[in-house]
Amino acid sequence: MNYITVNSYKELSAKAAQLIASVVTLKPDCVLGLATGSSPVGTYDCLTEMYEKGMLDFSKVTSVNLDEYVGLSGDNDQSYRYFMNENLFNHIDIPMENTHLLNGEAKDPEAECKAYDEAIKNAGGIDIQVLGIGRNGHIAFNEPDEALIAPTHKTGLTADTIDANSRFFESADLVPKYALTMGMASIFGARKIILLANGASKAQAVKELRNDEIKTSNPSTLLKLHPDVTIICDKEAFGE
Ligand code: GLP
Repeated sequence: MNYITVNSYKELSAKAAQLIASVVTLKPDCVLGLATGSSPVGTYDCLTEMYEKGMLDFSKVTSVNLDEYVGLSGDNDQSYRYFMNENLFNHIDIPMENTHLLNGEAKDPEAECKAYDEAIKNAGGIDIQVLGIGRNGHIAFNEPDEALIAPTHKTGLTADTIDANSRFFESADLVPKYALTMGMASIFGARKIILLANGASKAQAVKELRNDEIKTSNPSTLLKLHPDVTIICDKEAFGE
């Protein structure tokens, strides 16, 4: 794994945007794997700025997102579809029909997840996947557990994740208890992965990522098995 340590969130965002921009430049019809949460917001701002300056063209790009809350419609301002529209898609020229998120309102979640993995495969696989990291080491919504699930699936959220994500909701009771998420195999299918970690709350999870162990109690540690992972983190998250 390749580590890039930075001094600020601004620098982290610029570096991540550079890596994504290089993929879009080299392959204009690439498939971007995107993430939500506060970590990639600055990266999306940088990409928007590059687009506005005429440095990037997203018109042939396809995107797939990692996860979505169960029960929230795309126009609910807490849904990840809403987040992506607000933070990136509405500001660049990616055709909306090329942007894919799991449908949190799907009547048959199992069929929805199966179709999602199929769609990623049919699109040619993910060229670069952006990941954040939960303070418990989760990636997407693959929560610490005795066993992790390979394909895209429905999952329950841990109390820690509900607590961490409650900052976006009026109260913890309103945080959905279930989500649809890409599984470890769906994520590992990406040719290149970048993981963004900033702030002291991620230090423990990153510490475990930096040692030699692989354990399902910190799902991010499985990334040690992938051939092309870059971790971009600030000094607090890196433990300095
Ligand atoms: C959520 C998302 C993850 C994200 C994590 C960290 O639970 N499902 O994909 O990486 O939160 O979020 P943040 O970047 O806000 O710390």
